[in-house]
Amino acid sequence: MDSALLLLLLWALTATASPQSSGSCVRLQGGEKRTRTCSRNCKSDAECGSKRQCLCDGQCGLSCVAPGRTCPWPLPLSETSEIRLLSPTPSFSALLEVRCKPGFTLPDGLDVTVRRCQGDRQWSGDEPICTVSEPPENTPAQTCPLPEEVINTFSIHGEATVGTSIRYSCLSGAEIVGSRENFCQENQTWLHPHPVCKKLFCQPPKEVKEGYVVAIQKAEYEVGFDIHYLCKKNYLLDGPQKITCLSNGSWSASPPHCRARCVIPAERSRVVIGGVKRWPFDVTDAMVPHGENVTFYCKHPKKQCSFTAAQTCFDGKLQTPQCYLEPTWLQYKLFPHRLVSEIESCAPGDVE
Ligand SMILES: *[C@@H]1O[C@H](CO)[C@@H](O)[C@H](O)[C@H]1NC(C)=O
Ligand SMILES: *[C@@H]1O[C@H](CO)[C@@H](O)[C@H](O)[C@H]1NC(C)=O
Ligand SMILES: *[C@@H]1O[C@H](CO)[C@@H](O)[C@H](O)[C@H]1NC(C)=O
Repeated sequence: MDSALLLLLLWALTATASPQSSGSCVRLQGGEKRTRTCSRNCKSDAECGSKRQCLCDGQCGLSCVAPGRTCPWPLPLSETSEIRLLSPTPSFSALLEVRCKPGFTLPDGLDVTVRRCQGDRQWSGDEPICTVSEPPENTPAQTCPLPEEVINTFSIHGEATVGTSIRYSCLSGAEIVGSRENFCQENQTWLHPHPVCKKLFCQPPKEVKEGYVVAIQKAEYEVGFDIHYLCKKNYLLDGPQKITCLSNGSWSASPPHCRARCVIPAERSRVVIGGVKRWPFDVTDAMVPHGENVTFYCKHPKKQCSFTAAQTCFDGKLQTPQCYLEPTWLQYKLFPHRLVSEIESCAPGDVE
């Protein structure tokens, strides 16, 4: 308790005990028991007989009391408070201090109260009970200001309290320009200015030959924008069908390619395409798609048998293997059964 407040309370209590003027015999605000025995009221000592005096007895007002009467003393020891007599004797109008031990408080939140010895030989007020005090309310931590626009622009990691750091990341995923980290200083100001989010755009991607872009042509594309690709007829999409503008201004991937089909570079020889041995003229357009493997038959240099050699179609280019020899028209017409693709295949040991 504030010492000035205690003094004031002492003054108030002693003032009420003073018999000099009835004007000062005023009731204390709430301090005393509501139900107490009051002695006979009086205006002067003459009304009180020889053993009593007309004295101010707190709530009772001027009453006939025996000044020699004492209140209970010593009082039982308490675990939660210290009781101290402030007057030489525990007689009428003596004062008693009840002070809660550290960590304890009275129901009114104070840690000390003063009781007065009343005319009914009781100490004034309710029996003071000190109870464990509530932990002091956490004083709000000092913080550095985060303006609305900063909160709306960034996701902030960390507390904006004095002595700590925060990290920013742009809510839009855009690039941060400035310091990504900031420190809340003792005087509640930030060490650095807040950064800004730079909105990034993707530049138009490269054109795809033989392909179509399925998107509106723009000078620049916003983050998250998708571009879809299609290839012209007979061209095969090699790469992503869709690319997305990333928050760092790059496309999620390079544009795809549209790969051309290959003409099968054989006419009078059967080839293996997709596991099936067939005449090139039986294949649609005599072409294979990009990436297709075509297996050719070659003649063994010395023996009358064939072995195979594969080539892959890449974007319109498909070459015959070096060992392949295109049969002549005569060979094809006159001796179809002797064509290299039709003779028996060499035994595994025949081929070097
Ligand atoms: C706050 O403290 C920092 C470092 O101590 C100082 O540079 C800055 O000027 C202070 N700002 C204000 C507004 O007092
Ligand atoms: C953009 O981000 C992607 C994925 O996070 C990354 O692969 C690419 O390298 C970045 N591009 C630039 C220019 O930083
Ligand atoms: C063609 O052959 C290569 C190598 O043998 C193989 O990796 C690829 O999958 C084949 N392509 C097709 C379309 O079968």
